[in-house]
Amino acid sequence: MKFFIDTADINEIRDLAETGLVDGVTTNPSLIAKTGRDFITTVREIAGIVPGPVSAEVTATDHATMLKEGQKLARIARNIAVKVPLTRDGLKTCRRLSDDGVMVNVTLCFSAAQALLAAKAGASFVSPFVGRLDDVATDGMQLIQDIVQIYRQYPGIKTEVLVASVRGPLHVVAAAKMGAHVATLPPNVLRQMYAHPLTDKGLAAFLEDWKKTGQSILGAADGLGTEGGADKRAAE
Ligand code: E4P
Repeated sequence: MKFFIDTADINEIRDLAETGLVDGVTTNPSLIAKTGRDFITTVREIAGIVPGPVSAEVTATDHATMLKEGQKLARIARNIAVKVPLTRDGLKTCRRLSDDGVMVNVTLCFSAAQALLAAKAGASFVSPFVGRLDDVATDGMQLIQDIVQIYRQYPGIKTEVLVASVRGPLHVVAAAKMGAHVATLPPNVLRQMYAHPLTDKGLAAFLEDWKKTGQSILGAADGLGTEGGADKRAAE
C-alpha cells in the first residue's frame, strides 16, 4: 500500500519524507490556504521534495477554465497529479488531461457510482472521503470496499483507490485489508501508526539492560580483524 501525506506544510513534508515512508503528497485549496503561502511556489517545492505524485487542485468549476488551470499545474513538475472535483466538468477535464498523459486525481468522491465514472474518465486516482462520510453517519469504509470490489471486476481499470479524509490508523488498516492502493494521511496519523506504548516500554527495558553490560556496538571490534582487516589496522 502506498502512503501519501495530506498536507501542504513544507516542514511536515520534509520531516516525514526523510523517513522514506512517504510515496506522495495530496493538497487541496483548504490545506494551501492554511499555509498562507503562494500556491504555485508551494506545490513546486513539494514536488521537489517527494518523487511520487503531488496532487494540486484546480479551483475553476467550468471545464474550459479547469482545463487551462490543470495544464498550468501539470507544467510545474513531472510528478504533479492534477486534482479535479467529481462533477460533470471535472470528469470532462479528467478525460482530456488523462488523454494528454497528465496524471489526474478525481476528488470529493462519495459514491461508488461516482467512482465508476472517474475510472471511465481515465483518472489515475479516485479519492473517496471516508472521514466526511463517517461524519454524516454513513460508513466511509463500506464505500472503499465497494469501489475496490467493483474495480477488481474490470482488469482494464487502472485507476487507483486513494483513501482520503482519513481520521486515524484504524481507517488505514481497514483500507489495507480491503486492498485499497493508497491512503493519504494527515501527518499526525502517520505518527500515530508507528507509535505504540509497548514499543516504548520494551525499548526502555532493552536499553536499561544493555547499559548494565557496559558495552558499545560502535566501540567494539567488529570480528573482521583477520590479516589486513579493520581490527588489525585499528590496532596498529
Ligand atoms: C485529500 O485529498 C483530501 O483533500 C483530504 O483527505 C480531505 O480530508 P478532510 O476531510 O480531513 O478535510
